[in-house]
Amino acid sequence: MMNKTWEDDWRRSLHSSSCRRIIDEKGWSNDRFWREWTAYAQVVKLGGYPGKLVDLVQANMEPGSTLLDIGAGTGAFALPLAATCRQIIALDPSRHQLNLLAEQAQAQSIDNIVLQQASWPEAAAALVEPVDYCLASYSMFTDDIRAFLSRLAETARRGFFIVFRAGPVDPLRTFCYGPAFAVDYLCLYNILHDLGYLCDVHIVERQYMIPLSLVIEQYRFSHRTPAEIEYFLRENGRLVDKDGEQHCRHRVLDALLYWKRSV
Ligand SMILES: C[S@@+](CC[C@H](N)C(=O)[O-])C[C@H]1O[C@@H](n2cnc3c(N)ncnc32)[C@H](O)[C@@H]1O
Repeated sequence: MMNKTWEDDWRRSLHSSSCRRIIDEKGWSNDRFWREWTAYAQVVKLGGYPGKLVDLVQANMEPGSTLLDIGAGTGAFALPLAATCRQIIALDPSRHQLNLLAEQAQAQSIDNIVLQQASWPEAAAALVEPVDYCLASYSMFTDDIRAFLSRLAETARRGFFIVFRAGPVDPLRTFCYGPAFAVDYLCLYNILHDLGYLCDVHIVERQYMIPLSLVIEQYRFSHRTPAEIEYFLRENGRLVDKDGEQHCRHRVLDALLYWKRSV
């Protein structure tokens, strides 16, 4: 019998994730999912994400470098990093996400982000030039995580950054979508280690509150009613009255894995 591997765990976790379950259940494309998940941009903003993670990436990067942001989404990293990078390629399969990123770049007069609508690792072969750094944050929506990570590492001339969950899954998510097998950053750390990349790790904590109405919108694809969600949060002491509106307390741990090529 073959031993279970980190890659098996990754696939199992990916297929149990709420995002993949919604996509499969509704028969949506990746782009449709991000288009429909209207609460996403606001949750990111109010959640203080990426916060200190950007400073840590910046501190470990040569100014004036090129960066490939894989699964850039709405630009949580690409937009703030544009000030220190010479050029950023923001790669994402979702046209919707890239449009939101482009709107923000224009509003902030940022002109050194190039958009590329594509999926990783498939897009690796089409890259014209290597880049100094690669970054992938919560964007590894692939069964072939080994190929995703190895192509990312090979493409980066100087180093790479990976961001993924460090703490347990939010109990609210379990309440809404049911128990699910979920890996954390250690899975990625170990696959990278097997590939020959020994990464440094930083764990960053975020504590934030978001309005209950936004939490309810965030979980609108689950089978729980708004009243059930409110009851669960109240019972768990997570509701706080702020400015006359109910807000929900969150605590999230993100892990930043980084690796630098020795010269
Ligand atoms: C949770 S968002 C994260 C966005 C951004 N990296 C951040 O940290 O805010 C995940 C993004 O990964 C993108 N994505 C999904 N599958 C991908 C793939 N195979 N290659 C690259 N990006 C992918 C999605 O379209 C989405 O924009």
